[in-house]
Amino acid sequence: MAFRYYTATTLDGFLADDRDNLDWLLSQPLEEGGPMNYDDFFRQVGVAVMGATTYRWILDHEVSDGKPWPYDIPTLVFTHQSLTPVADTISVVAGSPADLRDRLVDAAGDRHIWVVGGGDLAAQFAEAGMLDDVIVSIAPVT
Ligand SMILES: NC(=O)c1ccc[n+]([C@@H]2O[C@H](COP(=O)([O-])OP(=O)(O)OC[C@H]3O[C@@H](n4cnc5c(N)ncnc54)[C@H](OP(=O)(O)O)[C@@H]3O)[C@@H](O)[C@H]2O)c1
Repeated sequence: MAFRYYTATTLDGFLADDRDNLDWLLSQPLEEGGPMNYDDFFRQVGVAVMGATTYRWILDHEVSDGKPWPYDIPTLVFTHQSLTPVADTISVVAGSPADLRDRLVDAAGDRHIWVVGGGDLAAQFAEAGMLDDVIVSIAPVT
């Protein structure tokens, strides 16, 4: 079991633009089954964690036109706001990563914990010593 931050950045180290737009990333060609591919990574994930801004991005861009929530694994969304989850697998939490550590480890079982992001939440995991692996794809854009 490991805490894994699996993410993508621009050449100059940004993971989102100032409008929370990921077109720079999603427009890149991807080699199916290539090195560090998502499917192989995701098969090893038991639980996901994300900040509220990333959660809202997924709702706005991937859960529309009747499409379901994309993950079938337990997912913890960090927020200080009241939020109604769009799937039974989503739990809304607040607190430090250390507060949630035991719950995450239990939920992951013999698989890994995916720190989805974004940068705000991932930085808190890093500061708490709760990032074992940082797996970064670099898009050829600035
Ligand atoms: N390039 C990539 O691979 C990648 C991956 C993931 C995300 N992204 C992008 O990154 C951007 C979002 O990143 P971000 O750094 O702005 O935000 P984020 O980490 O996704 O979310 C930050 C928000 O989460 C809540 N939060 C954070 N820590 C908390 C804690 N300890 N307890 C309770 N709530 C907490 C707060 O929201 P409240 O105000 O609701 O409390 C905070 O404003 C989006 O554009 C997303 O698409 C990119």
